[in-house]
Amino acid sequence: MPTVRDLQAMAGEEPITMLTAYDAVTASIVDDTGVDVILVGDSMGNAVLGHDDTLPVTLDEMASRVGAVARGADDALVVADMPFLSFGANESESIQNCGRMLKEEGANAVKLESGPHTVELTERLTELGIPTMAHLGLTPQSVNQTGYTRQATGREEAEEILELAREHEAAGAFALVLEHIPANLAAQVTEAVDIPTIGIGAGGDCDGQVLVFTDVVGLSESSPPFAEQFGDVRGEVADAVDEYIDAVESGEFPAESHSHTEGELDDLY
Ligand code: KIV
Ligand code: NA
Repeated sequence: MPTVRDLQAMAGEEPITMLTAYDAVTASIVDDTGVDVILVGDSMGNAVLGHDDTLPVTLDEMASRVGAVARGADDALVVADMPFLSFGANESESIQNCGRMLKEEGANAVKLESGPHTVELTERLTELGIPTMAHLGLTPQSVNQTGYTRQATGREEAEEILELAREHEAAGAFALVLEHIPANLAAQVTEAVDIPTIGIGAGGDCDGQVLVFTDVVGLSESSPPFAEQFGDVRGEVADAVDEYIDAVESGEFPAESHSHTEGELDDLY
């Protein structure tokens, strides 16, 4: 069973790979390739649930998907992303919601979009045996305040991120996602903390990288500028569905091999 210690041992030794998944079949494919961490991201809001942003994703939706991914994955560390307002407003409720992902759904850890309000919560969760991943820089649950633009382009905000990274490390966070910030800031945060940093749109000097599955395989209709498409699954799916429709319309499918007959049913009518 993977633990956060295994992940921490990799930092600085070999790059950590993290990818999202939202269902069991995808998780099993991703897990078989040997990815280190599978994040059940609230990016599922945009990626697979058809929302414009991550805010509408519910705790029950997340729980259902975390369970599916945990059942599909054998070796990767499964991290449950906590959706908007499922944490932060009330400590006891936050702990129950995070704990549910491990206790009922089989996640190994949770991730919180972090800020000054998550330092104490990170400490409490860690004390209780719930490994917690922090997330700084662009935090899409705050899209109504920040938009999706690059964060920390000025000195003051950069210093704040550095400080929050240190505070979350001290609170017990086992790793830190850095999203859409300047590469030289991400490099300095990586230097400043001992826990692994995992970047997305944060340059090449983090301890690992994360991207959204649907962007990586070419299933998304559109993807952010910092993503890279490594395949054309959307095209493959469209081709397969096209061929199926053609085969039905032309009468090629189903063939005899797809059917069976029973002699005693020949003279019913
Ligand atoms: O929801 C998500 O997929 C994420 C990653 C992009 C870090 O939070
Ligand atoms: Na997320």
